[in-house]
Amino acid sequence: MEKALKKYSFDTASEREGSNAEKYVLREQLFGTQDVLPVWVADMDIDTPQCVLDAVKKRLRHPVMGYEEVPESAFMAQIAWMKQEHNVTFALEDMFYSHSVVASMHTAIEAFTKEGEGVIVQTPVYPPFFHSVLQLNRKLVKNPLTCNKQGKYEFDIEDLKAKIDENTKLLLLCSPHNPVGRVWKKEELEQILEVCLQHNIVVFADEIHADLVYAPYKHTPFAELGSRAKDITLTAIGVGKTFNMAGFAISTVAIPNKELREKFKKAYDKVHFAQGSSLSHVAFEAAYKEAKEWLRALKIHLYENYSMLSALAKKYPHFIKVTPIEATYLAWIDCRGMGLKDKELRSFFIKEAKLGLNPGISFGREGSGFMRLNFALSSAKMAEVVQRLENALRKISG
Ligand SMILES: Cc1ncc(COP(=O)(O)O)c(C=O)c1O
Repeated sequence: MEKALKKYSFDTASEREGSNAEKYVLREQLFGTQDVLPVWVADMDIDTPQCVLDAVKKRLRHPVMGYEEVPESAFMAQIAWMKQEHNVTFALEDMFYSHSVVASMHTAIEAFTKEGEGVIVQTPVYPPFFHSVLQLNRKLVKNPLTCNKQGKYEFDIEDLKAKIDENTKLLLLCSPHNPVGRVWKKEELEQILEVCLQHNIVVFADEIHADLVYAPYKHTPFAELGSRAKDITLTAIGVGKTFNMAGFAISTVAIPNKELREKFKKAYDKVHFAQGSSLSHVAFEAAYKEAKEWLRALKIHLYENYSMLSALAKKYPHFIKVTPIEATYLAWIDCRGMGLKDKELRSFFIKEAKLGLNPGISFGREGSGFMRLNFALSSAKMAEVVQRLENALRKISG
């Protein structure tokens, strides 16, 4: 590791049990036991960058916590980050505050579709993508990803074309993709763009994992495909995943096209989105301005964790295969070799490995036989996870 990055250590992290962490609070409800290490919901068991915590402490020196607006400087910090890291240009007027990317997605569905109209999702995918569509009584248009023999997922453009009709209005793009870990290439995104342009389909690009991409891969913002793309795209971005700040409930949606922006605003204003919290504003700005180096060190660490898991999988290739990862800290594990039904697979991980993962089936039917493991852990905890899984696999290998 470069000298400058050595000051960041991820060998250990603060214990989250007892700190109201969702991962732990819902353990009994989800897994029926406290006796599992929870590696499910997508936040990190890693301390949030110190510069963020310091900014919050500084804000607390002022004793009034009344209503605030998101300061322009916070949006500007994010805009500068997006330009520098992802070569995409957004303007201040494009930016909407949102407490959650999923809430933004709901708002976009309300803004750009009517009940019964079609919304495309590319399964397997983060469950709120299809839950949002169904909860709002829109038609779910499933365009499943294809998967080749090496476990690499791709878009199925022919299927997409075949599924679209005049009632299809919106595409929910997950880029980079959770749970399959792909960083979509420019040429792949361009194919999606052409189809959407041809059919007047608006794109909600959920790019919340954009900063967690491993070299040599490079994230291409959908809006960066050119002015035609910018005109049909809403880009959801935030600090939640990147800097482990989900607890601050702050993200943004960038909408460069004025007409789309006005439509979105109508739905947005209906639910009174407020403007975030005093603490989240300063935390957000500090992260974008000061945590770049921390993120570089973090990604090196995360990839080491991923490598530990994939080394384990190589010892038991007939049971598990870890999907090649390009982005995110979520490993998509193909367990079909174990020959278990989904319920049995879940039970194996809980009872034998004592680990709490997300069942692949919850990401759509295409996730049957898979499990998703969150490896954003300290090195110490990752070693524990790998050990638990290895013990369980050794047992069934006989
Ligand atoms: C692709 C994707 N979008 C959105 C979210 C959730 O974002 P938020 O907490 O801002 O709603 C997640 C969390 O795992 C995610 O993976």
